[in-house]
Amino acid sequence: MRVLGIETSCDETGIAIYDSEQGLQGDALYSQVKMHARYGGVIPELASRDHIRKTLPMIRQLMEDSGSPASSINGIAYTAGPGLIGALLVGASIGRSLAMAWNVPAIGVHHMEGHLLAPMLEANPPSFPFVALLVSGGHTQLVAVTGVGEYRLLGESLDDAAGEAFDKVAKMLGLAYPGGPRVAALATQGTPGRFVFPRPMINRPGLEFSFSGLKTAVRNTLIELGKQAELTEQDKADVARAFEEAVVQTLVIKCRRALQYSGLKTLIIAGGVSANKRLRASLQEMVDSQRSQLFYAQPKFCTDNGAMIAYAGCQRLLAGQHEGLAIFARPRWPLESLSSLRQSAAPLST
Ligand code: KG4
Ligand code: ZN
Repeated sequence: MRVLGIETSCDETGIAIYDSEQGLQGDALYSQVKMHARYGGVIPELASRDHIRKTLPMIRQLMEDSGSPASSINGIAYTAGPGLIGALLVGASIGRSLAMAWNVPAIGVHHMEGHLLAPMLEANPPSFPFVALLVSGGHTQLVAVTGVGEYRLLGESLDDAAGEAFDKVAKMLGLAYPGGPRVAALATQGTPGRFVFPRPMINRPGLEFSFSGLKTAVRNTLIELGKQAELTEQDKADVARAFEEAVVQTLVIKCRRALQYSGLKTLIIAGGVSANKRLRASLQEMVDSQRSQLFYAQPKFCTDNGAMIAYAGCQRLLAGQHEGLAIFARPRWPLESLSSLRQSAAPLST
């Protein structure tokens, strides 16, 4: 089965074609980052309008580049939520309409399920069951996964998501949006140990996270430093380093706990923050000490992309799931409410 995937939930237009027999046929990404950067964050209305401009031409181009004419496409997967409603509606309307024109089934995919399954696109994919750490701009969740659509939430952030904390600290440091990768780059120049920020909630049992106190600690440190003298680049790098270490160590401690509590031996990390090199290295050390295994997607499939949506949609379409003619989009959508593939009707033939 060959599936066209469309991702338009936020500020990236991602298009991909995934084939269940032959793997990924091609993917294309257009980032709106430059357009939103001068406002310091995503402006929803501008995002929707830009998706309208980009989605169809990108689909046309990718079909041509990957040698996938309309007649070869057996299904369409679009991100149906969670995300910005206007942006979601662009991908949903285009996806649903193309499916009607081509007379193929369409499926609305959960954005975080897309992220969660992205490591499956790699040459050496993980097998179920596993613990998933989802760390993006909007979510920080630990999930026990026994199959596609079988998600049990183990813990999540009570306030900011990890990516959001990176973005807010970037702003405090005067770095451009989106800040995560920039804070990470600055942190490589930082002096380890000059500052030590709190590791939020590690002394409490359980698997919840909280990043707003850490953010405040960073703000207070910057204010104190600013009272003494103008902040130097080294000061900023040292703060970035200490902040990144605090986030990474907190995530590592909770992941170790999740593996221990669940008795599972496989950890996957997904979402934009899973591209973070220090996080990957620290988690690798931790899983080695636990005789467990770590999996993640290549960096371009950690952040938003069409390939993860095409892949996730393909699994559901193969199991016989699809939407009716309604255009389906929801800004809020709990991951745990998704249906398991085992509950599906008759599977489609490939
Ligand atoms: O998954 P994603 O592309 O979009 C959402 O679904 O939110 O994640 C974006 C988030 C942003 O907060 C961004 O700053 C963060 O991921 N991010 C990073 C890195 N790359 C992206 N954070 C830390 N280190 C990185 N290398
Ligand atoms: Zn995302």
